[in-house]
Amino acid sequence: MEETVHPKIIQVEPTNVCNFSCLMCLNTYRKNKPQIFFSDDLFLKLAKENFSLIERLVLYGLGEPLMHRNFIKFLIISRKYLPEESSIFFSTNGSLMDKKKTDYIIENNLADEIAFSCEALDWPDSSSVGHSEQITSVNSNLKYLAEHKRRETLKLGVETVVFESNFRQLPKFVKQVGDLGADYLSISQIYPFNSVFAKQTLYTMITKEALSILKEIGEGGWNLILGYLQERFAEKTQHTYKNMYKFKDNIVEKKRPKADLYYKYFNRAKKENVHLNIPLFMEEKNKLPLLKELEEVFMECINIANDYKLKLKLPEIVPSFKKRECPYISSETTVIRSDGEVVPCFNYLYDHRSFLNQHERYSQAFSYGNIKNASLKDIWNTHSYKKHRAKLKKINEKIPYCGDCALSTNNCFYATEGTSDCWGTEPFCSECPYSLNLTKCLL
Ligand SMILES: C[S@@+](CC[C@H](N)C(=O)[O-])C[C@H]1O[C@@H](n2cnc3c(N)ncnc32)[C@H](O)[C@@H]1O
Ligand code: SF4
Ligand code: SF4
Ligand code: SF4
Repeated sequence: MEETVHPKIIQVEPTNVCNFSCLMCLNTYRKNKPQIFFSDDLFLKLAKENFSLIERLVLYGLGEPLMHRNFIKFLIISRKYLPEESSIFFSTNGSLMDKKKTDYIIENNLADEIAFSCEALDWPDSSSVGHSEQITSVNSNLKYLAEHKRRETLKLGVETVVFESNFRQLPKFVKQVGDLGADYLSISQIYPFNSVFAKQTLYTMITKEALSILKEIGEGGWNLILGYLQERFAEKTQHTYKNMYKFKDNIVEKKRPKADLYYKYFNRAKKENVHLNIPLFMEEKNKLPLLKELEEVFMECINIANDYKLKLKLPEIVPSFKKRECPYISSETTVIRSDGEVVPCFNYLYDHRSFLNQHERYSQAFSYGNIKNASLKDIWNTHSYKKHRAKLKKINEKIPYCGDCALSTNNCFYATEGTSDCWGTEPFCSECPYSLNLTKCLL
């Protein structure tokens, strides 16, 4: 397939500043880091040079886009330079979308899709973890937009993050969003940026393909590993001493029942193109009933959403290896940080710690260049960016997968450092919950 010379979607972060401190959000832990606003001149330059070539502009990053004092001006510029059929989308915490701004955006057709982020729409149910600040004004801003938007020209979405302490309230939340008349509700699993939220996740990174085999191994996982290792050790010792052994002619082949069983399971996994992460299964198997309960809650949500004709975008609970795909690659999207750095995805905007597969990872921001010094088109077409995209297009062939690898749970150097993967690819994409449709970043 011919490599595209320009991204189809540009995601621009107007600012990394936020007026909220949602406990699950990375921005909340970055409070002392530089606070940046996208420069007006740079935005105009970007619009003039690139917007005629794109299908969609996404105007948010890590921060609240409406905290930029010129956010509305950015929308006006964008509409002017985008082709007529291209769309403008942004996600907001909604606190600054007052009546005046909403009227102005609607009257001047400055957006095609707006998503409000919230985890609950009323007190006292509202979880203190998600977007719980200024909930009264957010609620009335959302209602105002829902009542005044013209459905055919402006899509309204709600996006929410699900974790252990809020998932049982989801059916009620779906009903509230349906009552509002929103077009869709997008639910994302949580990306755990601290160890507390790591315990609240409602998914496993073991794939469906591997999990069905691991369930058969069940409680016997550690015994299987230990038995296999003991038998392998005994075999090796026998082999080493064979030639020195006085009665070597009397040696008979020993039975290796644990090793045979181990190979039986691993050969089955191989046919499915996956590995078996027994240590992770042993850590997470007690979570499976909770994941089943979430599945049932999702079924209930689907029924409620259908009654309202509300589009429901659900995340995976147990992901499929076969469906693994980078959402930035499939949509040909690039991300521009508020200081002009061009990064491959939301994950690479800022340095952060995360807690997946029972280990901590330190990830550093990763940039291919800055639009202050080079054109976006040139950055998009640099050898390293093109090479990375080519690999991600064939992700299951070219990028290893940590969720099914036993080393991830045992502090694999690559998975904890998060710089390159064990096959040498940089940046590190082999333990990415976006690529499994677990966590979502709306584009
Ligand atoms: C980072 S916010 C930026 C835009 C805006 N401030 C907002 O809240 O919509 C974008 C989305 O990320 C979601 N988000 C925040 N922390 C998350 C996490 N730990 N895991 C998954 N999604 C998260 C938010 O709920 C929001 O819908
Ligand atoms: S989720 Fe959005 S509103 Fe909440 S702290 Fe993060 S950037 Fe701010
Ligand atoms: S990076 Fe480490 S954990 Fe991930 S697949 Fe490679 S060896 Fe396994
Ligand atoms: S970290 Fe995930 S979302 Fe980002 S480029 Fe890699 S696969 Fe795509």
